Amino acid sequence: MYKLTLIPGDGIGPEIVDAAKNVIAATSVPVNWEIVNAGLEVYEQEGTLIPENVFESLEKNKIALKGPITTPIGKGFQSINVHFRKKYDLYANIRPVKTLPGIKVPFSNIDLVIFRENTEDLYIGIEKMTTPTTAEATKQISEKGSRRIIKAAFEYAKTNNKSKVAVVHKANIMKLTDGLFLACAREVSKEYPQIQLQEVIVDNMCMQLVMNPAQFEVIVTTNLYGDILSDLCAGLVGGLGLVPGANVGNNMAIFEAVHGSAPDIAGKNIANPTAIILSGAMMLEYLGEKNKSDLICKAVKEVIGQRKYITKDLGGNATTTEMSNAIIDHMLTI
Ligand code: NAI
Ligand code: MG
Repeated sequence: MYKLTLIPGDGIGPEIVDAAKNVIAATSVPVNWEIVNAGLEVYEQEGTLIPENVFESLEKNKIALKGPITTPIGKGFQSINVHFRKKYDLYANIRPVKTLPGIKVPFSNIDLVIFRENTEDLYIGIEKMTTPTTAEATKQISEKGSRRIIKAAFEYAKTNNKSKVAVVHKANIMKLTDGLFLACAREVSKEYPQIQLQEVIVDNMCMQLVMNPAQFEVIVTTNLYGDILSDLCAGLVGGLGLVPGANVGNNMAIFEAVHGSAPDIAGKNIANPTAIILSGAMMLEYLGEKNKSDLICKAVKEVIGQRKYITKDLGGNATTTEMSNAIIDHMLTI
């Protein structure tokens, strides 16, 4: 029996997390969920964004499935997601982006994984007004922080028989910060002579991705570029509702969709549950339940390919519940 933490989150979070929980139950992997909540709704009720029992649960179980959380803007709050990632040193944000059948997108052959550094860069949140009319932010890149995410990307490439890793940077302009990241990539790549290092400047990367995304297999980059490129890549395969993710450190992992709490469609049972369901599949793989993880991925692919039970964002009219039930029904036939 796996004891795991479940955080429903805000907006569409509870609806899609529920769908993912049902899909995982249908794999018959024995899970005992500890449900704790964080986010804006909790804040409105309890006056704190992350109650103590959330930290306790994460520290005890070490593995969590998490719904998106709304970050209040301009009230002096740090993003809860950034908080978890920093507090538990979840340095690797891993986001697989794959073409799914039956979705009208310009490319049919995208299969890449983004390794986004998750603890440094401009996201450390140090900003100040240096004069009444000028603001500055600190961009922090360390050798340790860079090497470990780059190493994770190369290890992934090696284990999964990928032939190349693209490091994305802007070292031509930011010579010290991005220059250090690039230098680390060159160093680490020497340990993997069989894997090609592609060096791509971030603005060129945007063009390359929208023109010829199949040339990339593994992308490793700093926090901000990784955040932006993830959404760009999500768009290439049909939208934010499709891309799962994992925040992984040395002794904790939190699995969550790339998308946010989507307040515009919350509470209507119309959100696409695919991204969080696939995040659940990544979690099962992390637990060593590879067959069950593959089962979920296969069912998701086939249900989307059939186009009968798909949500509005994919051009269908199924509800969140109908789509996840179709995935469960399909799993039972495989
Ligand atoms: P968003 O990802 O929530 O939504 C962007 C657009 O994509 C919206 O039109 C939304 O309806 C659509 N969308 C997102 N997920 C979908 C799904 N599963 N099915 C169908 N359509 C979907 O991004 P936005 O609006 O910038 O952020 C909303 C809130 O979420 C903010 O408070 C933000 O801070 C938070 N957020 C939280 C994240 C997390 O908890 N990991 C990640 C990103 C944003
Ligand atoms: Mg993002």
